[in-house]
Amino acid sequence: MVADVAGSADKSRALSLGAFHLGAFARRTRSQHQHRTRLIGLADAGNDLRTRTLEINIANIHRMTQFGMVVKQAVDLGTFRAIKGGPRAIDKPMLQKEERITFHELQRPRRATPGKDSVGWGLDSHPVPSVFLCVWKDCDRISRHTMNDRVILPTPPPILKNQQQEIRELFQRFVVPSYGRFNLALSHGAGSHVWDVSGKRYLDLGGGIAVCSLGHAHPEITEALVEQSRRLVHVSNLYYQEPQGRLAQRLVGHLAPGKVFFCNSGAEANEGLFKTARKFGHDEGRFEILTAVNSFHGRTLGGISATGQEKVKKGFEPMVEGFRHIPFNDLEAARAAISPATAAILIEGIQGEGGITPASAEYLLGLRKLCDEKRLLLLLDAVQCGHFRSGRFQSYQRVLEGVAGAEGFSVDGISMAKSLGGGFPIGAFWLRDQAHGVELGQILGPGTHGTTFGGTPLGCAVALRILDVIEREKLADNVRTTGDFLHAEISRLAEQYPGVVRGARGLGFMLGIELQPFDQIPGFKREETVSSLQMVNRLHEAGVLTIPSGTQIVRLLPALNLSRALAEEGIQIIEKVVRSVA
Ligand SMILES: Cc1ncc(COP(=O)(O)O)c(C=O)c1O
Repeated sequence: MVADVAGSADKSRALSLGAFHLGAFARRTRSQHQHRTRLIGLADAGNDLRTRTLEINIANIHRMTQFGMVVKQAVDLGTFRAIKGGPRAIDKPMLQKEERITFHELQRPRRATPGKDSVGWGLDSHPVPSVFLCVWKDCDRISRHTMNDRVILPTPPPILKNQQQEIRELFQRFVVPSYGRFNLALSHGAGSHVWDVSGKRYLDLGGGIAVCSLGHAHPEITEALVEQSRRLVHVSNLYYQEPQGRLAQRLVGHLAPGKVFFCNSGAEANEGLFKTARKFGHDEGRFEILTAVNSFHGRTLGGISATGQEKVKKGFEPMVEGFRHIPFNDLEAARAAISPATAAILIEGIQGEGGITPASAEYLLGLRKLCDEKRLLLLLDAVQCGHFRSGRFQSYQRVLEGVAGAEGFSVDGISMAKSLGGGFPIGAFWLRDQAHGVELGQILGPGTHGTTFGGTPLGCAVALRILDVIEREKLADNVRTTGDFLHAEISRLAEQYPGVVRGARGLGFMLGIELQPFDQIPGFKREETVSSLQMVNRLHEAGVLTIPSGTQIVRLLPALNLSRALAEEGIQIIEKVVRSVA
């Protein structure tokens, strides 16, 4: 991060980043020396007081520019190490003694750096002992620097280094084993990087499966959480509160006149759409929802019933009544499947779990026509593909760009989650005000639907701030241009290494690397039968996180603010891995 901290400005505020965890805000008070000072980086070494070693690679500071700070100067200072003790001994007894001190001193570095750069480091004992290191430029005359109104966020619970095995054992003993997990224990993140507990750094191109819209430890998310949590975290939906109303207004503004219901997850958002469809068709005895083969709609009973993949249903039968699956992107199949009981058609704008397949323009326009003709609701699951991941707010807006006959196109309901909260759990569904002469936006009247945590002031404040950043930093444009670059590069890999990569799939930052079957890739193990998993594991070794989808697709779902430089770095690593198995 590069923040300009003008020493003459009484309350100039350096948005300083506890880069390796949640972050912190530094407010600089007037200094005796009225120097222009640049805080060029603040990194937190976490709580690892055992090793008493701080290490920060200043290259990370360049990465921090993606947090939206104005870059005044980027200086590569190399890697600093403040080892054992430093100016003051760091040990637990001392921290306990200073427990009530929320202030820490930044001291002159032990190891001076070339030129006028200097390093300060300090302790913070509130609320969890942590150590941080600051790098300043041109601050040689500011020897003591008070940040007595600094606000620090709770650091994550201490996860000490090299405890991968212990963490795994905790999961084995105490966590329901419903996920197939990779052998990685992650500790902290900053921007598009995450670190595992052994200190290894990864470029995160999976984005927590399309969730971390602004990457990790984004200072504005931190700020929104801090500010809102000081005012109001939760009040119940029995009352009005401003953030929920404002967020609904913003989401509607990106769509068409309508109303929004807030919930906590994608599956819950889809449940809302299912209930809407049932209510809509109820008086005519219609209840059935058609969904697509290979779709994914969540893990609730309704969600797995709606999902067009047998593997999620197995062992949980009987399914909820009223879902049938139709081939995706096949308009005639949809027409043929409609029965007198059908109330709605639900599709993903871009199928995610099913292997990164966008709905075609013809399919979208055709479904709209079909639903109008048959008085059906056209519903969109945008949990994974929505929120600017395609380069537009909704994927259909991107797919239908410039397509004749698409003017005024709208679906009737949309489910959202994932990127909406950037990692804070929040989901939502939007309903168009009017559909087929019915006031759809009013269809779920008082008492018909609810959820305790839906649309809390805290969640909505975070989602609002994410929208602010996306709009201010024109991240949709970034997704388009950087996404086009990645797509072109994956296509190049397919041309250069046809024995490994079949092709590129998807749009924007919802991309798929389609691989050959495992037994056709020379460097893949024959005993492991899925090429997507083999590739994802090799990419982990090489320092990149990606997400498998089905047997042959590796998904890239990075943060919307992934820079071109990091995209290039990611492709280089992917190419190296592809080459190694070609
Ligand atoms: C398209 C789609 N719908 C619904 C869901 C379920 O969302 P959640 O896991 O938040 O319940 C997912 C999750 O991956 C998804 O990709």
